[in-house]
Amino acid sequence: MGEVTARLEDLPIRDDLRGMTPYGAPQVPLPIALNVNENTHPVPQEVADDIVDSIARALREVNRYPDREFTELREGFADYLGHGLTREQVWAANGSNEVLQHVLQAFAGPGRTAFGFAPTYSMYPLLARATGADWIAGHRAADYTVSAQSAAEQVADAAPDVVFLCAPNNPTGTPLGLDVIEAVYDATDGVVVVDEAYFEFAPREERSALTLLAGRERLVVSRTMSKAFAFAGARVGYLAADPAVIDALRLVRLPYHLSALTQAAASAALRHAPTMLRMVDDIVQQRDRISATLEALGYTPHDSWTNFVLFGDVDDPAATWRALYDRGVLIRDVGIPHHLRVTAGTEAESTAFLEALASIDSQA
Ligand SMILES: Cc1ncc(COP(=O)(O)O)c(C=O)c1O
Repeated sequence: MGEVTARLEDLPIRDDLRGMTPYGAPQVPLPIALNVNENTHPVPQEVADDIVDSIARALREVNRYPDREFTELREGFADYLGHGLTREQVWAANGSNEVLQHVLQAFAGPGRTAFGFAPTYSMYPLLARATGADWIAGHRAADYTVSAQSAAEQVADAAPDVVFLCAPNNPTGTPLGLDVIEAVYDATDGVVVVDEAYFEFAPREERSALTLLAGRERLVVSRTMSKAFAFAGARVGYLAADPAVIDALRLVRLPYHLSALTQAAASAALRHAPTMLRMVDDIVQQRDRISATLEALGYTPHDSWTNFVLFGDVDDPAATWRALYDRGVLIRDVGIPHHLRVTAGTEAESTAFLEALASIDSQA
């Protein structure tokens, strides 16, 4: 016992899962971890205290199943999102990954297709394939933007069942205009998911895709508490859409998928939204400082409306990644030739990254 006796390929696993590799951002306990676009600021103490109180209250009734409809939490999200949304238009799950999985389970699945403009969030193809759907990769311009016309043409050609528009895009940071969303919506009969995981880091005056929801029953706007809200470990994501879409998601979710403790924690955090979001301006400042310094060091940072920066003109990304690792700094090699991606951390973390990178350059 205890010995490994079988390999994955020896098991009667689904044929369409053979040869796939799981999501695998390296998990290593380095002092400066800027590799998975977390918010590296801890939850403020006064909010943490209220969250702990709320969890303690929920714990007294944890012998019972939680509210299957997570009514209070959906109301909290509707209030936070604004735009006149009500709880009937809101859904939530354990991270926006699960929210997106619900969408794919309901609207993609075997014999169907999901589409996104590569390079984009690496979980989209994995989530799509896990539901049995095929993934179709569209393309972007050299600067990673995509125009309304090109997007609409590509989507019309591919005729997918679900389209992912990551706005702004991960791993490139690229903004996406509302005109692109409108054009894509008009070019398909499928469900259009606008993933606004990083929306809070965009310029304040920018309009969300939430403003396009009215009259577009196939449009879905997803968000997460993992980034701006500094809540990645709690696993809470959500979306807004037509109530009929929400009904479709009820068909595929597991009953009681959001635990009473998760609901209590997320509702408490939402009550403190302004405090939770206090660090966003600081992160945006660090992001812009990182971009400016990278440029001064001779790299090519891409325009970013997120909490991270993708930068090009890296001669040997694997070597640079390793040299940073050896200096206690973890960033991400996202597999784009001559590029690396770094999350904007606190001022001290961002400085540590920039100094480590500069020290490598001076040795090269
Ligand atoms: C574009 C995008 N969408 C969704 C997610 C998933 O976030 P979570 O499942 O933590 O809500 C991420 C995480 O990095 C992301 O980059």
